[in-house]
Amino acid sequence: MTPAEELSAVVASLKPDRAVIVTDSNVRPIAEEYISAVGSVVPAGVFILPPGEQGKSLEQLASLAAFMSQSGLSRNSLVVNIGGGCVSDLGGFAAAVFKRGVRTVNVATTILAAVDAAIGGKTAVDFLGLKNQLGAFHIPERVIIADDLLRHLPREEYLSGLGEVLKTAMLDSRELYLEVLKDCGRSMERPYTPENSDCSDKADWAEKFAGIISRCAEFKEEVVRRDPEEKGLRRILNLGHTAGHAFEALAARKGDAVSHGTAVAHGLLVSLILSHIKCGFPSLSIYPYRELLQKLYRRLPVKCSDAEALADIMRHDKKNTSGTAFNFVLLRDFGVPEECVPVSKEELLGALDIYCDMMG
Ligand code: GLY
Repeated sequence: MTPAEELSAVVASLKPDRAVIVTDSNVRPIAEEYISAVGSVVPAGVFILPPGEQGKSLEQLASLAAFMSQSGLSRNSLVVNIGGGCVSDLGGFAAAVFKRGVRTVNVATTILAAVDAAIGGKTAVDFLGLKNQLGAFHIPERVIIADDLLRHLPREEYLSGLGEVLKTAMLDSRELYLEVLKDCGRSMERPYTPENSDCSDKADWAEKFAGIISRCAEFKEEVVRRDPEEKGLRRILNLGHTAGHAFEALAARKGDAVSHGTAVAHGLLVSLILSHIKCGFPSLSIYPYRELLQKLYRRLPVKCSDAEALADIMRHDKKNTSGTAFNFVLLRDFGVPEECVPVSKEELLGALDIYCDMMG
């Protein structure tokens, strides 16, 4: 069954009276098969957002709610979000609050959405210049991975998604992590990305990669099933994000923005260093990851002298601190996460120093 056929079958099984499809202007031209798949089962209107974070405004939320109302959506209707994380955030939030809750199905068209954003029901809009300030948990009925579209992502989008794949694999098990290292990084001499057109085994790779994406999605679904509202366990999904968010913010401040997943990929190296210092994570396992990072990802516009500024950004992120300590998700080993490890400022500055040395 193709993902579009799966979408038809899922919509039919939910028996909605009508549907609204939410997508963005980048995805719309490549989403015809998915839009028709919904339209073949139930009357459906299409609402198109501007791409990226611009789509997550209160204005867009109000326009979408008006469209849902004009389309005659009832509590028995369906919202189908086709796109990346910004589409499922905005479309999911509109569905969570419209008539106190309309069901959703998410079709993930980016790797980042497929392994993270589309799963688990976190929905939100940006407000007063702050990301995800208004939001709700609204678990989708189903997440469908549009793996036909994932194969054609541009390199930057692929690498951004790979950051979240690496994070999930590190949390899942050493076995999955080593598989990702081997299959997504390919040999270190010839890093593999979808654009590497001289690779003869593209079809084989695409199949393996689809398998890895499914396993990462299953891992997140299981974590969310056990802790849907992030009271404890779900926090492990922030591995690499404490330093990653600080890298992202500092790079933007310097006018040299990096994608979320690229910042997370670098944040993961800081987490592995701290994991060694605080939890006895084996140091030998850090080096292959450093090598992958250097081969595949761009360097960040970050210098050793930025360590204080980075610590400052982390301190202002309330999720990260308790008293004077910074809270980190760390690993005893791949597949053995520790949810909330207090790290002192000295330990953090030491880890950032090692990160800078390792990245040369
Ligand atoms: N992106 C982390 C979570 O969904 O909890």
